[in-house]
Amino acid sequence: MQRIAIYPGSFDPVTKGHLDIIERGLKLFDRIVVTILCNPSKKSLFTVEERVEMLEISLKDFQNIEIDTYFGLLVDYVVRRDAHAILRGMRAVSDFEYEFQMALMNRKLKRDIETVFMMTSLRWIFTSSSIIKEAAKFGGDIEEMVPRVVNQKLKEKFKN
Ligand code: PNS
Repeated sequence: MQRIAIYPGSFDPVTKGHLDIIERGLKLFDRIVVTILCNPSKKSLFTVEERVEMLEISLKDFQNIEIDTYFGLLVDYVVRRDAHAILRGMRAVSDFEYEFQMALMNRKLKRDIETVFMMTSLRWIFTSSSIIKEAAKFGGDIEEMVPRVVNQKLKEKFKN
C-alpha cells in the first residue's frame, strides 16, 4: 500500500522552503500530492494557473510528486484522494497557533485524518511567500529564496 500525503497550501508563490519540506517529506511518504487550495484570509498575487505552472517547473526533477488544485474543504479532498495524512511545514513559534488551530479543526471535521508537521530547515526558517512578495515588490533581492522561475515571475509582476 502506498503512503500518500497531501501537502496543501496557497503556494503564492512556491518557495525553497516549500521544496525543502517536499524533498524531506518524500523520505516519509511514497507519494506527495502538492495541492493548491484557497485560503480565504489571503488575497493572492498569482492566478491558480500561474501557481500550477511555477510548481510544475520547480518540481520537474522530483519523483513521486503530483500537483493538483481543489476548491473546498481540505479534509474532503484528503478523503477523495484516499490519502493518509496532511503534511505541513512549521517554521517558528509564530506558526504554531495557526497550524495547531487548523490541524485541530481538520481533525474535528474528519477524525481519522492526521496532520504531520515537519520543521523547516534552519536555512529557510525566516522565509515565507508573503515576506518574499513584499521584498520583491520593492526591488529586494530574493533570488536565493525561490526557484528560478518564481524569481522571473515576481520580476515580471512587479516591473512597473
Ligand atoms: O499556505 P497557506 O495559505 O498557509 O495554506 C492554508 C490552507 C490553504 C492549507 C488552508 O487555508 C486550507 O486548508 N484551506 C482550504 C479550506 C479548508 O479546508 N479550511 C478549513 C481548515 S481550518
